[in-house]
Amino acid sequence: MTAELRKEETAEEFHKLIQGYPPEKRYIIPIMHELRRCYQYLPRPALEMLADHMQVPFSQVYGVATFYKAFSLVPKGRVNLKLCDGTTCHIKGSQGLIDEIYRTLGIRPGETTGDRQFSLETVNCIGACALAPALIVDEKVYAQVSNARLQEIIEQNRRGEDGTESN
Ligand code: FES
Repeated sequence: MTAELRKEETAEEFHKLIQGYPPEKRYIIPIMHELRRCYQYLPRPALEMLADHMQVPFSQVYGVATFYKAFSLVPKGRVNLKLCDGTTCHIKGSQGLIDEIYRTLGIRPGETTGDRQFSLETVNCIGACALAPALIVDEKVYAQVSNARLQEIIEQNRRGEDGTESN
């Protein structure tokens, strides 16, 4: 399922979201989860506001944000391509897929397209080595992905589920 809850990245929106929680440290992580749900990443101005709200140094909030893999400090695309680059997938051609994604979308691992439609990350073995090279898109695992199959997957995800082009 693709997150569609992105709100405007404005100080006002951040403020509204953060002020919805009491200024107690135990709410730092729940607030981060809500920020992630709304924006697919943790915008720095929101984290600064969060630190103020909790009356803790920014470094403390930053430390939490960078500790958990679930949180990203850079914008993610509407569609996040997670390519396995574990040993088996690497041997079976994940690097070629990384190159193909770069040729098609112009992004490398850790990057997001300018229109925020796609982002790419590499992950360690996902425990499906028989399916190598494997790609995960929104929880769905694609097996033995070839360059041609990759193009199909990108095209499918470029459009909405109803087949219309997404903006
Ligand atoms: S190395 Fe990719 S699934 Fe194991």
